[in-house]
Amino acid sequence: MNLLKLAFLPVFIYVLMSVLEIVKDKYLPALYIFDPVELQEIVSVTLKENEGANNTVIVSSLGKHLSARYGDYIKDINFDDWCFSNAGGAMGTFFILHASLTEYLIVFGTATGTEGHTGHHLADDYFIILSEQQSAAYSGQLDATIYKPGSMHHLPYLHCQQYAMPPGGYALELAQGYIPTMLLFGFADSVFSTIDPFNLWGQVKFTLISIVKNLLLGKI
Ligand SMILES: *[C@@H]1O[C@H](CO)[C@@H](O)[C@H](O)[C@H]1NC(C)=O
Repeated sequence: MNLLKLAFLPVFIYVLMSVLEIVKDKYLPALYIFDPVELQEIVSVTLKENEGANNTVIVSSLGKHLSARYGDYIKDINFDDWCFSNAGGAMGTFFILHASLTEYLIVFGTATGTEGHTGHHLADDYFIILSEQQSAAYSGQLDATIYKPGSMHHLPYLHCQQYAMPPGGYALELAQGYIPTMLLFGFADSVFSTIDPFNLWGQVKFTLISIVKNLLLGKI
């Protein structure tokens, strides 16, 4: 009897994943406030205004443009509320501009360089390069695709790649989909690898504050 139930598990998972994907395509977009193409335009304007500037200046300017465009949905940029991200073997630093149940918008990057696994996510991921570059490749893709400042790298729902960023590489990252399911991957290395409760607390705190704040604004 138990074995029979077990045999239904793959079927159940297959049906669940199919339903999630249909809901993601049909219903979630109505809840989104960010448009990747518009964000890429804002990055493009920011980069033109700040040619030759360092990352602090570029990120500050980008934060101001985003706050001007999206108002209360965006947290004003500062340099205190950053956390480390340890996920998929990669390490970077990030600032949460917006987190809700269906979207997040962050600045992610690394002062020292990093490399790792993107994770398989129940979300579409848009990575708009601000400085240096990102290289990324699927398994079986022997030569990486290189993304330069201003370009956008779309990692589709449930796909995964190996990626790397050199020292000083930063990007604006938009994720759209089932955001809470991504947190497992986002927090796992802080629990099982770096065993860093202080950093974990920062990640959880800033994420929850933003999700609750946006819920109160009516943003799911
Ligand atoms: C970045 O550039 C600004 C403006 O030139 C300068 O004031 C600031 O000290 C620089 N920051 C770093 C970390 O070099």
